[in-house]
Amino acid sequence: MKEFEYLKDLVFNAGRKLLEWREEEFSVNTKSSKFDLVTSLDFRVQDFLYNELTKKFPEIGFLAEEDGFDKKPSTKGYWVIDPIDGTVNFAKGIPNFCISAAYVEDDEPLYGVIYAPVMNQLIYAEKGKGVYENGKKVIPHWNKDIESSMISLGNLRGHTYKFFRALENNVMRVRLLGTAALQIAYVGTGNLDAFISVKGNSWDVAAGYIIVKEAGGIITDYSGNKATIFNKKAIYSNPYIHERLLKIIQGVQI
Ligand code: IPD
Ligand code: CA
Ligand code: CA
Ligand code: CA
Repeated sequence: MKEFEYLKDLVFNAGRKLLEWREEEFSVNTKSSKFDLVTSLDFRVQDFLYNELTKKFPEIGFLAEEDGFDKKPSTKGYWVIDPIDGTVNFAKGIPNFCISAAYVEDDEPLYGVIYAPVMNQLIYAEKGKGVYENGKKVIPHWNKDIESSMISLGNLRGHTYKFFRALENNVMRVRLLGTAALQIAYVGTGNLDAFISVKGNSWDVAAGYIIVKEAGGIITDYSGNKATIFNKKAIYSNPYIHERLLKIIQGVQI
């Protein structure tokens, strides 16, 4: 699909620019609380993507984290963008951050791209076409038993430890990489076996959603029902461990 190729190149270019821009001075400010950061480059990446996408596809709506774009557009098709996912990592110079972009129609992601520029990992998927990383088709080699699995988490201040406590005796490792989007992408590539979202926004999960779906993963809410990109709490899982993981998560009181 022409638009998908365009988005892939655009997100890649935005990531390369971000690496250049961070060599110059940029500002870091607090956002909703003293624990929540946003940088001038979050806005710069978002402006770049907004300008390029709306110039080329004026009929497609735009939903993104920063700058008043966080309301769902009324158009049938819309972009869902997180200009930097993992802003705190980015601000602290930790390489785990990415740009996440998806095209969504009737609230279902049809294609998505996640680019982690420091690692130069471009992970993407289009409905019906599987998952690719840097041009190579990915077959995820997921663990079949939960004891060998790598489970990643988002965070919910004051509650994250409850998930840790419930998981740590049942799984190989629990990881918090500080970027929801990249962790979901890593479920799609098989590096991780699941990501548990505890307060996800659509821009954190939309691109990862189609990546996990195309990999053959399962995405549900904590009750085991199909989740959409608007579910704050969801499990993005390899199919082998999903049921056992669900049982563990259902025991967590938050
Ligand atoms: C955050 C990161 C973090 C997750 C938060 C997100 P941001 O996104 O993905 O890992 O735990 O829920 O808000 O603010 O860095 O784009
Ligand atoms: Ca943020
Ligand atoms: Ca985010
Ligand atoms: Ca962000």
